Amino acid sequence: MSLEHGLMLFRSSLLSFEAFISSVLLVGTVALLLSPWGIAWARYRSKASDAILGPLGFPFLGLLTVFTGATPHRVLAKLAKALNAVKLMAFSVGFTRFVISSDPETARDILNNSAFADRPVKESAYELLFHRAMGFAPYGEYWRNLRRISATHLFSPKRIAAFEGFRREIGAKMVEEINCSMKSKGLDLEELVSEGYELLGMFNWSDHFPLLGLLDLQGIRKRCKNLAPKVNVFVGKIIEEHRLKRVNGEDDCKVGDFVDVLLDLEKHEQLSDSDMIAVLWEMIFRGTDTVAILLEWILARMVLHPEIQEKAQAEIDFVVGNSKPVSDSDIRNLPYVQAIVKETLRVHPAGPLLSWARLAIHDVHIGDNFIPAGTTAMVNMWAITHNENLWTEPEKFKPERFIDKEDVSIMGADLRLAPFGSGRRVCPGKSMGLATVHLWLAQLLQAFKWVPGEDKDVELVEHLKLSMEMKNPLVCKAMPRFA
Ligand code: HEM
Repeated sequence: MSLEHGLMLFRSSLLSFEAFISSVLLVGTVALLLSPWGIAWARYRSKASDAILGPLGFPFLGLLTVFTGATPHRVLAKLAKALNAVKLMAFSVGFTRFVISSDPETARDILNNSAFADRPVKESAYELLFHRAMGFAPYGEYWRNLRRISATHLFSPKRIAAFEGFRREIGAKMVEEINCSMKSKGLDLEELVSEGYELLGMFNWSDHFPLLGLLDLQGIRKRCKNLAPKVNVFVGKIIEEHRLKRVNGEDDCKVGDFVDVLLDLEKHEQLSDSDMIAVLWEMIFRGTDTVAILLEWILARMVLHPEIQEKAQAEIDFVVGNSKPVSDSDIRNLPYVQAIVKETLRVHPAGPLLSWARLAIHDVHIGDNFIPAGTTAMVNMWAITHNENLWTEPEKFKPERFIDKEDVSIMGADLRLAPFGSGRRVCPGKSMGLATVHLWLAQLLQAFKWVPGEDKDVELVEHLKLSMEMKNPLVCKAMPRFA
């Protein structure tokens, strides 16, 4: 055999080896891409039971586009129904493994299971200090301490009652401002909150494709890094002002605010200044957006259903009258006003996917289904509250359902309607949030008749950002009911 002939043989066997490897890689990649539930599940496919259903993983991005759209809760509900995967559906978004439930029993198994007491890491939450606040703090001693502080000091029934004066004052100011059509103040804080809100609500590719993290293609990290120092300065200044007042003996207010509560903590519970900033920032953030968005949906419904609005006003007029301001103690005698809030939380849950997902800390079973550690679990509360097997005429806005026969608790015990979540990470601000919305709604309905704007109809179009907002902000008229 000549040298030339030998080289040719070697080259051709090399080529066929290359072809063989390429075909194996190609087949492997296609199989991986087409593997049920997507690429992130590929490693666990054999271990997980066949009972768990989900869409194919092709294209490579998985269900990425679902989360970049405005209504992922609706798309996921439809998909789960089509695939007969209402109880549990598995899918991937890039390299993130997801399961989602649209069924109350399975939702309970997830939310009340200690295995799901963690939250998935979100780059923007980390950059914006939220890993030191309650919502995104990893499950552990620090998070437990914050929950303890919030349950005993920040949101105890005593504290909620003590804050009534503040809440009433703000409600009254709102009424006055609507009367004078004034613009609200506090623009600095408003800007910080709205920038943080946008960043946290944005779908971040880096969360699901780790390599892209290096590039920061959407500029989210850059904007977070820009915002975090401003938050530090702003909230830090509020804390300093409170400290100064105490030193100068100017703190004559009997009811302290959240800053006072945190400054008064016993030594063993005390937080460092940077942790206090993170906690207060989260409270400002969560306390404003959820309550404001819920009120906007309620008022939109009031404009669209004048007969429901009139019924609520008749109840307020009967119980409170028109000369006395509404107070917390009146709310228990306003069941119809409460039913309106409940029905709005059912039809337009502020967190249709329960705002923040949960993360499996260790391998766990949900029913017969094996869920590996590191899987992100979600509950589609919107799908549950719109399920015709659980609710009569679910699409209809009908507060009477809670007065007549379909009454359920909304505090997390009944998973047919759990807008505040359930289990260890249930919303700690739920009682404060509800007390605020009840009071402000009663104040706004007592003072005004809410009617459509002159040239703009109310559109109930949703846009899920961090919470579910109205795509087109509500434009309507508030007509004073009493001169
Ligand atoms: C109408 C008002 C509100 C709604 C619909 C709402 C909804 C929610 C939901 C769905 C969760 C996730 C629960 C889970 O994972 O099971 C949550 C968590 C949370 N909420 Fe609320 N919320 C409201 C008001 C508030 C208020 C007023 C505050 C505080 C001022 C607050 C602070 C928090 C915090 C800190 C968490 C995270 C808890 C943790 O991870 O341990 N929320 N909320």
